[in-house]
Amino acid sequence: MCGIIGYTGQREASEVILEALRRLEYRGYDSAGIVIMNPELTLHKRKGELAEMQRTLPQINGHVGIGHTRWATCGKPSNENAHPFLDCHGRIALVHNGIIENYMALKEKLQNEGHVFTSQTDTEVIVHLIEKHDKGDLHQAVRAAVAEIKGTYAIACIEKGSGQIIAARKENPLVLGLGIDENFVASDVTAILSYTNRVKYVMDGETVVITPEKVTIYGPDGEMVERSSQTVTWSAEDAQKGGFPHFMLKEIFEEPQAIHNSLLGALDVIENGEILPNVQFGSIKIIACGTSYHAAMVGKYALEELAKIPVTVELASEYRYSPGAKEFPLVVLISQSGETADTLAAAREAKRRGCKTLGITNVIGSTITREVDEVFYTRAGPEIGVAATKTYLTQLIALYIIAIRIGYARRNLSHDAMWNELSKLRAMPGAVQSVLDKAFDVEAAVDMLVPARDVFYIGRNINYPTMLEGALKLKEISYIHAEGFAAGELKHGPLALLDSTTPVVAVALTKDHTYDKMMANISEVAARDSPVLAIGCEDDKELPQVADLVLRVPCVDPLYSPVVVTVVLQLIAYYVALKRGCSIDKPKNLAKSVTVE
Ligand code: F6R
Repeated sequence: MCGIIGYTGQREASEVILEALRRLEYRGYDSAGIVIMNPELTLHKRKGELAEMQRTLPQINGHVGIGHTRWATCGKPSNENAHPFLDCHGRIALVHNGIIENYMALKEKLQNEGHVFTSQTDTEVIVHLIEKHDKGDLHQAVRAAVAEIKGTYAIACIEKGSGQIIAARKENPLVLGLGIDENFVASDVTAILSYTNRVKYVMDGETVVITPEKVTIYGPDGEMVERSSQTVTWSAEDAQKGGFPHFMLKEIFEEPQAIHNSLLGALDVIENGEILPNVQFGSIKIIACGTSYHAAMVGKYALEELAKIPVTVELASEYRYSPGAKEFPLVVLISQSGETADTLAAAREAKRRGCKTLGITNVIGSTITREVDEVFYTRAGPEIGVAATKTYLTQLIALYIIAIRIGYARRNLSHDAMWNELSKLRAMPGAVQSVLDKAFDVEAAVDMLVPARDVFYIGRNINYPTMLEGALKLKEISYIHAEGFAAGELKHGPLALLDSTTPVVAVALTKDHTYDKMMANISEVAARDSPVLAIGCEDDKELPQVADLVLRVPCVDPLYSPVVVTVVLQLIAYYVALKRGCSIDKPKNLAKSVTVE
């Protein structure tokens, strides 16, 4: 959600912090702020995008500082509610990501004790609590303060006259970057990649003392924790736009490579059981949020087809509070960030219920990897655009690989059949590339959607969730109301809403067994005067007779068609948003990593 950065070393801290905040801006962007120690604490913060804070920033020299980019959860976006916060005497400064649940009670108590508050945020209570407990040792004061907090947090704080940063974490990501005579703390590794790729992840309940010379991690019991560093393989360039106007477009064009990378080692997973060596479970439950939930829905079709195993799909936010039947499915949790609060809570709940858990994530070392029994990493590389694109496609690839693995291990797929499925998957990077080669067709076709207030997306079978995802992408970045429907459901209600002002995006693929039914559904909507933008196979001659415009995809096996159809849908959303002049990489009210409930 919010982005946190802290620096202590030899460089100008403000330069490092601004550079890191630029990279973190996708996590939150309704306000931003910075504090530099020199030796007073000099604070500057502003409502609005980072550029606004930077434009008004005076020259502040100093080698220690913290910065923050905010996605409001408690208290509206404003100068006062922007982070960092200072204590009453301007001696301690703090930035926070997360939610403090008992902040009202704490605030009242602190106010009665004479603390003066300047914002409506939950965060401000933390800095006052630290001030209250500070007897000359900031680390101990932070430990005492977080012991009183109920909720979730990643925090970093500094104090007047000191070169150290104190950080702490509970259920919000925090990573330490290790340099020579300099060290960093950040909510996301992309913030510090320009300076170092040597990192240590902070775990729940830990606190950290960071000086230019070293980082010292303390466990919840106050004992020092030894942890070796990891090397991140992403480069800073991987997180740049590379000549594309937006991260989203760049990331869509990286999809062939992302799929290719995610398929590396697939044979080991499938044949040698590198993932799921033991397939002794009678059913599978897949749990996720948002786009990852749509991947889960596609995964259900793939697993039931290839592994002949019953699959249920649940939203993480629902599963975690559900009563829980007496069943022990394999629970698969999908989260590209590995930090989504609801999905993490669902992982814990699944374990509490005695289920074996498998996580699918794109971020090495993310929190989910520590919550599950086994991890399958997608290899999409860093995704900066808020709308998930390449990570979604690699989640589909991961689910296909897992489906083939389970199908093969349960002998539903012979060795030859397994190879056959794998070769279809290996054809996906090429198929996606051929869709991308025709991106200009999509750009021209979207004119019929640009002025719309509402757009319907319809599909059947495995492309029903694909259309849900298409609709989500459109509403997320173009702010057009879009709904996805199983095409067979139209006549049970939604058809009443259709007329010439409501365009319909439909998918009908000749090889699919639902093709005829889809053609009938498209005729139904066309009869209500709805303009139809259809996605069909390259060889289809009938579709242009019922649809106003047809965008073509390669004729792949229908089971794998969500991969190519999704690319068209992502491009549709992108070009509609572009033509409507929307802020594509930073849509309003959304954040890349949803670390609050
Ligand atoms: C949509 C989008 C969100 C995420 C959702 C889950 O483009 O990005 O719907 O899919 O917040 O995020 P992860 O996969 O990180 O758990």
